Amino acid sequence: MKIFLDTAIIDEIKQGYDSGLVDGVTTNPSLMKKAIEEAKKSCTGNAISLRSYIQRILTIAGKTPVSLEVKGGSADDMIRQGLSLYKKFSTKSNHVVIKIPLNPSVDKDNPESLEGFKAIRSLTSKGIPVNVTLCFTAEQALLAAKAGATYISPFIGRIDDKIRTDNKIKFDKTDYFPADGIERKGDILLESGMASGIDLLQQVKDVYDNYGITTQIIAASVRNAQQARECALVGVDIATLPFSVFKAMTTHPKTQEGMISFLKDTVKEYEDMM
Ligand code: E4P
Repeated sequence: MKIFLDTAIIDEIKQGYDSGLVDGVTTNPSLMKKAIEEAKKSCTGNAISLRSYIQRILTIAGKTPVSLEVKGGSADDMIRQGLSLYKKFSTKSNHVVIKIPLNPSVDKDNPESLEGFKAIRSLTSKGIPVNVTLCFTAEQALLAAKAGATYISPFIGRIDDKIRTDNKIKFDKTDYFPADGIERKGDILLESGMASGIDLLQQVKDVYDNYGITTQIIAASVRNAQQARECALVGVDIATLPFSVFKAMTTHPKTQEGMISFLKDTVKEYEDMM
């Protein structure tokens, strides 16, 4: 499974790439806003432009894929925004992926929209790689693949959030949610026929496998290390992880306990030999 970092914070991206374990970066407008505000705070006179900031992310990521998201709206708007971002940032030494919302509708009375699919089709037909975001069902993932998506990003944590919120279960954002779901009065709580975000991933994978679809699955909205493990067990192509989740994957209390006793037991003669 490839690991992308789901962050726009330069220091996190740098640490991730320095480890040699990171294969790409995903951003969204919220992550970008948070990162640039932080960067401006630590930079006197606000002497930092978003353009140069993105350029720094791309320099660290080299030829690995970096997703930059459009704002949304009509297909024409998203195509224009996607082309503009791609033209500005994609070079021989960088690999920019345009992130398109699957369905950009924000009108609660008119939730259906085909604008995202039109934008995906148009950009991919021009050879621009597209990461389709805000995917919450396998049927949405199927349509995105039919439109030509390079990557699909099912949001697993937000499915778990919805199941818990709808059923008035208190939780913190990073709390583990069982992959098999939560039982109440003998029934598993479901959201659109899914028991968990991991179940969403499995359903997307099953549909893609049924038809030999090559769109790569990026597990997004991953909230803890156990969920990252479950993404790998499902066999998705990529998990995009907050830096905190990436670091949490390295730890176990027994690893630390073992380390303390090995250090204590290393005799001087053995140490001098190394
Ligand atoms: C993915 O592209 C999104 O940026 C992200 O994974 C959303 O995560 P969240 O649900 O934890 O905000």
